[in-house]
Amino acid sequence: MSSKAVTKKAPLKKKAIKKVTKRATVKSKLYAGLVLQLRSLLNGEYDFIANAANFSALVYNSLPDVNWAGFYLLHEDQLILGPFQGKPACVRIPLGKGVCGFAAKQCETVIVPNVHEFPGHIACDGASNAEIVIPLFDGERVLGVFDVDSTTLKRFDDQDAEGLNELVTILVAHEEGLDE
Ligand code: SME
Repeated sequence: MSSKAVTKKAPLKKKAIKKVTKRATVKSKLYAGLVLQLRSLLNGEYDFIANAANFSALVYNSLPDVNWAGFYLLHEDQLILGPFQGKPACVRIPLGKGVCGFAAKQCETVIVPNVHEFPGHIACDGASNAEIVIPLFDGERVLGVFDVDSTTLKRFDDQDAEGLNELVTILVAHEEGLDE
């Protein structure tokens, strides 16, 4: 490789790093803003359905490239559809099935870059290509999950996982009066 080629490539790399860093900063600012908006929406209201409905609307309307955002709540061994925004969705998901059931059973956040490669993915909206599922905890017990879908492949990353985990933690702590 000629030295010319090396000097040509270096600035491009720097540019790419700058772009990624900028994107990360924008995303962390977005989630910081959502934390403030969520706290304001929750203020003085303790009805879980009402708060979860506003939570879904906040996320759905604030995050770019999202085509579904909502809750599935655990009743015995099934997840049942809760407050959401987006197209009508499947109502019951057995624990362990699909991305939601997997996240609830494993008690962990699941990021799926391409849902078509996830074994057992449940396609509620054929347009969805990527998904992130965050479990809701009461101590160690799983209460349900918060699910967000996108038509964009690889839409969700660790920053989304961190941001959404912070938001659901605020919601649950508020319901339990732990933020007073
Ligand atoms: N895709 C999910 C089902 C719920 S919908 O995306 C709204 C899953 O595989 O569990």
